[in-house]
Amino acid sequence: MKPKIYITRKLPEQIIDGLRGKYDIRMWEEEEIPVPREVLEEEVKEVDGLLCLLTENIDESLIDRADHLKIIANMAVGYNNIDIHSAAKRGIMVTNTPGVLTETTADLTFGLLLATARRMMEAEAYLKRGKWETWSPMQLTGQDVHGATLGIIGLGRIGEALAKRAKGFDMKLVYFNRSRKYEQEKEWDIEYLPLEKLLQVSDFVCVMLPLTPETAYMIGMKQLKMMKETAVLINTARGGIIDEKALYQALQDREIWAAGLDVFEEEPVPVDHPLLALPNVVTLPHIGSASIATRLKMAALAVQNLTEGLAGDTPRNLIKLKKA
Ligand code: NAP
Ligand code: GLV
Repeated sequence: MKPKIYITRKLPEQIIDGLRGKYDIRMWEEEEIPVPREVLEEEVKEVDGLLCLLTENIDESLIDRADHLKIIANMAVGYNNIDIHSAAKRGIMVTNTPGVLTETTADLTFGLLLATARRMMEAEAYLKRGKWETWSPMQLTGQDVHGATLGIIGLGRIGEALAKRAKGFDMKLVYFNRSRKYEQEKEWDIEYLPLEKLLQVSDFVCVMLPLTPETAYMIGMKQLKMMKETAVLINTARGGIIDEKALYQALQDREIWAAGLDVFEEEPVPVDHPLLALPNVVTLPHIGSASIATRLKMAALAVQNLTEGLAGDTPRNLIKLKKA
């Protein structure tokens, strides 16, 4: 009997073509609608392998239903949507898709930083609403990016790719990370600072951490108040790292100057979310890795991990639990 696979969203045919024949594949056929929980609960009962997206909550109750499951392959680098401890207890492997999306996500992050600093969305709306009547000295003025200090919280793969881009803008670089990155310090002339100090000195703060119990709400009102009144906060990591209520208040009160957000505590972010109404916030619908080439690479890598795991090999991107 062929091993059974469930894929939680319609993937391009070129990606799944190689699986046909070898596996018994079922797939949620919608592109824009996530698989309903009750459907997923039924589907996981029989399968050996699950390929899922960050939109699926693979929690303990779901894992407990999956009696035959050997591997969960996430099509994302972040895996906060999966209860990796419950999976480990059941001997189920979990994989992610690191590396292939690093440069694309860094591009988007730097683009969001520029757009927020220079009020590009606000300016475009101003033009399209017919408000542009003349050029005037202080009209739609923003913050300079070149020469400013960029604080990167989380100097991992994407954080480093961001540092590389910022160098081209003559930015001064500082970072905070749980472990020191001595090689990167030398290569990008980036200085390690404790979090509080980073928040105090940075003109731009970019959050590039995974969402974990340790990083949840790492940026709250206390931290926002430490930032400069002219500072810009960028988050393309995960919404839950920043306390959104505190961020809203800090932006309203001009404790900080602006924010650029690709990720939210609740996704899709409700359209009536107060943050969306603020002129000094630029928002995007979680598109950090969304280039055609990169999304295809992520899907292909997720498939590779899945098939390696099902073949009894160690998948290349197996997530290992950290020892306590
Ligand atoms: P990564 O290479 O694992 O980098 C994460 C960095 O955060 C590492 O340097 C890690 O330090 C550090 N870190 C982890 N926990 C920490 C803590 N408690 N305190 C301080 N530093 C901590 O991951 P990546 O590939 O750069 O991706 C980062 C995150 O970006 C992903 O987890 C995902 O959530 C998000 N992401 C979003 C998008 C998007 O579409 N918006 C796209 C891709 C990724 P160590 O080196 O010491 O472990
Ligand atoms: C996207 O957010 C990812 O984690 O890959």
